[in-house]
Amino acid sequence: MNKIHVETGKAYDVLVEKGISRQISKLIESEKYDKIAVITDEKVGKLYADKIASEVNAVAVLTFPCGEKHKTMDTVSDLLEKLARLKLTRGDLIVALGGGIVGDVAGFTAACFLRGIKFVQIPTTLLAMVDSSVGGKTGVNLTSGKNLAGAFHQPTAVLCDSDFLKTLPDEEIKNGLGEVIKYGCIEDKSLFETLEKGGLDNIDEIIARCVSIKADIVSRDEFDNGDRQKLNFGHTLGHAVEKATDFKIPHGQAVGIGMVLITRWAEEKGLTKKGCANRIQNLLEKLGMPYEIDVDIKSLWQITSNDKKKRGKKLTLVLIKDIGESYLYETDADKLL
Ligand SMILES: NC(=O)c1ccc[n+]([C@@H]2O[C@H](COP(=O)([O-])OP(=O)(O)OC[C@H]3O[C@@H](n4cnc5c(N)ncnc54)[C@H](O)[C@@H]3O)[C@@H](O)[C@H]2O)c1
Repeated sequence: MNKIHVETGKAYDVLVEKGISRQISKLIESEKYDKIAVITDEKVGKLYADKIASEVNAVAVLTFPCGEKHKTMDTVSDLLEKLARLKLTRGDLIVALGGGIVGDVAGFTAACFLRGIKFVQIPTTLLAMVDSSVGGKTGVNLTSGKNLAGAFHQPTAVLCDSDFLKTLPDEEIKNGLGEVIKYGCIEDKSLFETLEKGGLDNIDEIIARCVSIKADIVSRDEFDNGDRQKLNFGHTLGHAVEKATDFKIPHGQAVGIGMVLITRWAEEKGLTKKGCANRIQNLLEKLGMPYEIDVDIKSLWQITSNDKKKRGKKLTLVLIKDIGESYLYETDADKLL
């Protein structure tokens, strides 16, 4: 079993092993809690909630509809009311069972309920395993934009069981792979090379390597004031790609395109070693993921200049010097346009 320690204010472990969710009760010491509530979405709920709920002897499974449009304050408010009716106390536990949306919503609900109760993450998508379940960022979307309301609330444990990926559609696997490639680009050249050689067989090992990188970065910068921004490599233009295509290109795949675009741009400016953009593009192509869109970079910078990462007129971009080596580059947002 891979055990990765996350050294945040409240430290915890991420355990990665195929089939590990079958031992959930023992691993989270479920007998310590008077009440455990499982929060999930409708799709994951149908597939896995009964099993997990009976393992931990849950008092309830609280389900909300799938999709970004339900990652809202209304959903959180509804869940809070249900937890209150179940009379959970501060010593009780929430289990977040699902992809990144469930993790963000259930985590934020846990952060708000009684001013914060414990929660455990059981990620069921590749993206949630390698990224969103670790690091304690929780939250919801507002009408004004994505992830605009939230809290830092670390889980007490994260259990990554790759058995869940058996039912995950291909498109969702590709979303997760966008983030996996990102980790290779920013910190781990050998992970990138493993992917180039087609080495996706040992998925547990890949998940563990990604989680280790995230755990390291989050331990250094829990509250996102510096190094943690490196995790946004490809995301600034990726978000613009999502918006420009009216969200037809999903997040992880948009990040893939964003990584190619920003790296090509940085190569032209002499900020990245030549050839990196082509390597990222070739890897995306090999994995059957999109690497370009029919929108010019100027329109994408226009969208980006309204991005929430813009601090005053300055915009912090994440660039790579070479594959496996990232840095933060501050620039004038107007200059980009
Ligand atoms: N908190 C963070 O640090 C962080 C980081 C990255 C992304 N995110 C957030 O994560 C969200 C995206 O997460 P996601 O890509 O996991 O999407 P998701 O949660 O919407 O899951 C994708 C789809 O797959 C289904 N699904 C999940 N697990 C399944 C399984 N094992 N088998 C079959 N179907 C399954 C879900 O029901 C859903 O329909 C976004 O809202 C994003 O903002 C958060």
